[in-house]
Amino acid sequence: MYRTHTCGELRSAHQNKQVTLAGWVQTVRKFGSITFVDLRDRYGITQLLFEESLNAQLDASPLGREFVLQATGKVNERTNKNPNIPTGDIELIVSEFRILNKSAVPPFTIQDDTDGGDDLRMKYRYLDLRRNAVKKNLELRYAVGRSTRNYLHENNFMDIETPFLIKSTPEGARDFVVPSRMNPGQFYALPQSPQTFKQLLMVSGYDRYYQIVKCFRDEDLRADRQPEFTQIDCEMCFVEQEDILNMFEGLVKRIFKDVKGIDYTETVERMTWEEAMWQYGNDKPDIRFGMKLCNLKFPAHTFPSKENISSLIAGEFAVFNDAETVIAIAIPGCSEYSRKQTDELTEWVKRPQIGMKGLVFIKCNADGTFKSSVDKFYSEEKLKAIAEATGAQAGDLVLILAGAEERTRKASSELRLEMAQRLGMRRPDEFKLLWVLDFPLFEYDEEGNRWVARHHPFTSPKPSQIETMINNSPVIENAAEYLKHPYAGIKANAYDMVLNGNEIGGGSIRIFQRELQEKMFAALGMDKEEQQHKFGFLLGAFEYGAPPHGGIAFGFDRLCSILGGSESIRDFIAFPKNNAGRDVMLDAPASIDAKQFDELQIRLDLKN
Ligand code: AMO
Repeated sequence: MYRTHTCGELRSAHQNKQVTLAGWVQTVRKFGSITFVDLRDRYGITQLLFEESLNAQLDASPLGREFVLQATGKVNERTNKNPNIPTGDIELIVSEFRILNKSAVPPFTIQDDTDGGDDLRMKYRYLDLRRNAVKKNLELRYAVGRSTRNYLHENNFMDIETPFLIKSTPEGARDFVVPSRMNPGQFYALPQSPQTFKQLLMVSGYDRYYQIVKCFRDEDLRADRQPEFTQIDCEMCFVEQEDILNMFEGLVKRIFKDVKGIDYTETVERMTWEEAMWQYGNDKPDIRFGMKLCNLKFPAHTFPSKENISSLIAGEFAVFNDAETVIAIAIPGCSEYSRKQTDELTEWVKRPQIGMKGLVFIKCNADGTFKSSVDKFYSEEKLKAIAEATGAQAGDLVLILAGAEERTRKASSELRLEMAQRLGMRRPDEFKLLWVLDFPLFEYDEEGNRWVARHHPFTSPKPSQIETMINNSPVIENAAEYLKHPYAGIKANAYDMVLNGNEIGGGSIRIFQRELQEKMFAALGMDKEEQQHKFGFLLGAFEYGAPPHGGIAFGFDRLCSILGGSESIRDFIAFPKNNAGRDVMLDAPASIDAKQFDELQIRLDLKN
């Protein structure tokens, strides 16, 4: 037997008990004739005490960091207890020990605050995974998975596996492809998601499906994106949007409870896509704090139903006059910003990532006066009126951005988040859920002068707008006026779940009639032949009694990273890829043998 207990288990109650532990040597400290060793395993750390009698053996086979050690001895209550670890009341007085395996000197310290840089830790990920901080993240991931499975099982969902070697599924990214030896010149695509399979399972009558499943997308990577990532993928039959929202806010609330001990009893807020863009400048607003955008000026096509209050800024100021869009944000309690601070903010919005030309501010002084960087152009009365429109109070600082529509909205959204970050309003221990609803069904693709699906082509339009889709041709006669095309206003029966400003899940009610699905494919520019070639199986299935259905998929890694208070999903994946999509430990991707090319009947002829 290698061990009787784990390194996290022993307490004062085990006093005088004879035990055997096995684990890794974290530290070796010599004090005169005695030696202390911290022995670590998955469950914790226990202090071992080697008395003088073992010195000869220790000299003959010295211990080093990360050696695998087995030690037998008696549990002893310590005189100088360590309150920082659960086993800190005791130590093991070693009577016998055995080195089970030696270790080379590790390239970085295996501790919470390691001295290893990112690349080094990824190269030796198996050592990095020994660190407590990483282990805690994987434990959290496991807990989220377990809670998910329990909830979905209790709600009658069935876990069904779907294949990885398939044909392209359009989720908006590029496919990873796999050559087929048995079908020379032909390729499988790895699934960007199990989308079509879960719909087919509904046609097959499985009613409630789920899978915690790998998805593969060849897209540019960011902190919250990996080329292979995991989804909690779900689909249900005979449901409307409301059923899905209820079921899956239930899931997230259950995960909060099981994993974080949080009772999320409040109603999950809902917002239309248009409200999100209007008030927050993006479709995944962080609603842990206010600071909503105040749209002082915008083109009529942007938000047709909104009141344009551009009269407030009418005047001699050319920047505002010439701008397509002017957006203000009231920042609480910052009216006393110094010149240096406002200059720094101006530089911040001018950075290429934000891309604005400048920043206008109005200080709403505590004494009721107003001071602005555009005093020359606006009377104090006017400044007051603008500030009031933003909802600013005495003591606030109003920041105003002006420029081209899309860029200004995006920059305003970034500025809002940045200010909230600086003011400590984005607390990682506070969780705020939000449903964003009523996304546009189509997006306009300028390059191709055509429509693309905003979610994916299986998403149904709002029932009231199906007629609009059926009765109008998708052809865009006048590219400059695409916004006037009836398709531009069609809303999807789609929803995203947002947590603290991150899209953690998205889904939709699906099209389940062949005719509408064909119409959708046609709207996206697919002729009959292409439809048949790419999606004949789905169109065929829709002829055999497809039930109404809908579903959602959560980004499992993303959800874990937010619950764990981290920006990067890599911290929650055992063996992640770096930003160039490489596994630096395996050194993959890599070239393959000439023999493998031969078997595949492929000749490598790189273009560049
Ligand atoms: P969608 O493409 O919105 O929907 O993906 C669902 C969720 O998966 C997460 N996600 C990612 N996480 C890490 N790395 C990535 N590269 C990545 N891409 C997406 C996001 C996202 O909200 N089949 C549909 C779902 C449906 O309609 O039911 C789909 O895949 O958190």
